[in-house]
Formats: sequence, C-alpha cells, structure tokens
Amino acid sequence: MTAKRIGILTSGGDCAGLNAVIRAVVLAAGRRGWTVVGIRQGTRGLMARPPMADTLGAEAADTGMMRMGGTVLGTTNHGDPFDFPMPDGRRLDRSDEVIEGFRLLGLDALIGIGGDGSLAILRRLARQGGIPLVGIPKTIDNDIGLTETAIGYQTAVAVATEALDRLQPTAASHSRVMVLEVMGRDAGHIALATGIAGGADVILIPEIPYDFPVIAEHLRRIQEGGRNFALVVVAEAVLTEEGRPVRQGRGSYGGIGHYVAERLTRDTGAETRVTVLGHVQRGGQPTAGDRLLASALGVHAVELVAEGRFDRMVAWINRQVGDVPIQHAIEHYQAVDSEGAIVKTARGLGICFGDRQETAA
Ligand code: F6P
Repeated sequence: MTAKRIGILTSGGDCAGLNAVIRAVVLAAGRRGWTVVGIRQGTRGLMARPPMADTLGAEAADTGMMRMGGTVLGTTNHGDPFDFPMPDGRRLDRSDEVIEGFRLLGLDALIGIGGDGSLAILRRLARQGGIPLVGIPKTIDNDIGLTETAIGYQTAVAVATEALDRLQPTAASHSRVMVLEVMGRDAGHIALATGIAGGADVILIPEIPYDFPVIAEHLRRIQEGGRNFALVVVAEAVLTEEGRPVRQGRGSYGGIGHYVAERLTRDTGAETRVTVLGHVQRGGQPTAGDRLLASALGVHAVELVAEGRFDRMVAWINRQVGDVPIQHAIEHYQAVDSEGAIVKTARGLGICFGDRQETAA
C-alpha cells in the first residue's frame, strides 16, 4: 500500500483524552509508514494561509500525551466555516477556503475529532470538497448517537463525582443542602451518572421536568428521617419553572444551580450553598477509561483510512470498537432516556428527579 499523508484536527470544546487519541492515531499511522499532519485550531487552521499545520513527530507519540489534558492541536467551538463570523460583523461562507486548505497540505484523508455539531460541519465540508473523512466522537456531554460513550465523558463524570465526595462532608458538618451544577449542554448524562456515583439525593436533568414542591417534600422526608444534609445535582441545561434557560456571557449555560438553591431555601428554609463546576470537568488528566477509549478509537480510525472506508464515525458498541455512518450518529442524538436503565437505577436508589413519579414511590 502506498504511504499516506493524513490530517488530524480537534474541533469543538476540548475535553480530557484528546491528546491520547492524537497519540493513538500517530502511533497507528506510524506503524504503516504514514505521515500525520496536525491541523491547528480545528477548521480555522485550514482557513489560514498558509494553513496552520505541522507534521506530528515523536513528541506526539510520547506516552506523556496519554496523560495530558486539553489538545496540543488547539480547538474552537465557534467559527462554523459555513457561517463564519468576520471581525467587521459580517458572516461569510468560507467553506471553500477550508477545502482548499486541505488540498494545499497534500492530504489523502482527514480524521476529525469532535462532537455532533463539529462532525456535522466536517461531514458537510467533506461532501462538498470530496474529502475522505473519518470521525472520532468526543464530548463530555456524551450525547452523540450510536456510540455508548464519547471521549471525555468518563473523566467529566469522575471529576464531578469527586466534587460530590468533597461536598458531602462539608454538607454534613454544616447541616446544609449542597447544590452542584454540572455541564452537559442539552443532555443530563453527566448529572445523572454523577448523582448516582456521588450519592445525590436529588438529580435534576433537562429530560425530566421537575416541580419544586416535590423536591421540597423529598428534602423534608430526609430531614424527618434524621439526616441533616442533602446533595442536589443540577444539569446546566435544566430550565427554570417558567421554562427559561439560565445562561451567562456569550450564551453558554450557567446559573441554574443558584436559581434552584434560592428556591429550595425559600421553600424549605434549608441553608444552601452552590458549586458551579464549569470547565474543571473538561480539563485535567483523562481517566484510565477515557485513555483506553481514546486509544481504541484512534487505532480504529486509522484502520478505516487504510481500508478506504470513509464518511464513518468510529464508535464503542457492546464492548467492541466499531464504526457507523457519521450521518446516522448525528441523526441519533442521544439525550438521557427517562425510562432507561440508569434513570431506573437512580429511582431504585430513592433519588428524586423532582417529578411526580417520585411522590408515588
Ligand atoms: O459541549 C461541551 C461543553 O462543555 C458543554 O457541556 C457546555 O455547555 C459548553 O461546552 C461550554 O462551552 P464554552 O467552553 O464555550 O463555555
């Protein structure tokens, strides 16, 4: 087989495990005698002239990459090339420049690491420009369809669970209700998994509408049972009672934890404190699980390039590495299944979601 020259880029929000997957691609491609070109700042690197890209050498294959948070390639979660925000306020379609950047680098294929939004943009570019594309799923939100888990999610849950481990003793010492707000954009996976793993009393997720009286009643029962504290986990995308999202700054979610805490204080008289975990969930060392996943998905992505199987996303399915059409993964957006096994587990543990099913239990 002829030697190939493949490009790799990270796109969307960073997360733990991105450097581990870059390393896996460099190692697996290197074993075939291929060159891997690291494209900087996602598609912005292909828009720049000359394109911002370097051949990835031994340092990218180093074991240290496995442990390192962030992405050595840089990334961006704004700057859709089809609707690119220019400094003068105009929005331009710069997709042809990105495609030309790919050609200028003399690449045979592109491996794009991203969430559902990034993969949709990359796929559109690939189809428009005839770019042979393989996608690798990453997002702490874990909402990409057709893969059981995406790179970064397990680390985010581990970080958030450690936060609950630290909040619980201080909650007990001060007889407080501790509210932990976690990320997840529009899906409640991080909140749900963290709430179970960290022993929360209440989990609020966007997929399950809640009522404050139900939560207040649950907290009252805990107190009557002789416990002086409670732990509440809230996903950032949970809406207010009036159905309003709580946002900060440029439009990112943030602040629903404070809203919930104020209401709980008003309704129950409890002393509350709020922790908004934010980007702490994205940085830091990946867990062993994320390192393993990143390695497996990176190696398989190179196999797909070798086999000439493009427009596919590598995936983790039934304890195996597999692959699915990128379009199918995007179409099967994976919110929390409110009737699924994990929600049932939480209900079985007596965790309150703030819905009426809880009062019936
Ligand atoms: O999609 C990953 C994510 O961390 C979401 O959980 C969160 O809502 C968003 O990105 C934050 O984006 P930014 O880094 O732009 O604040």
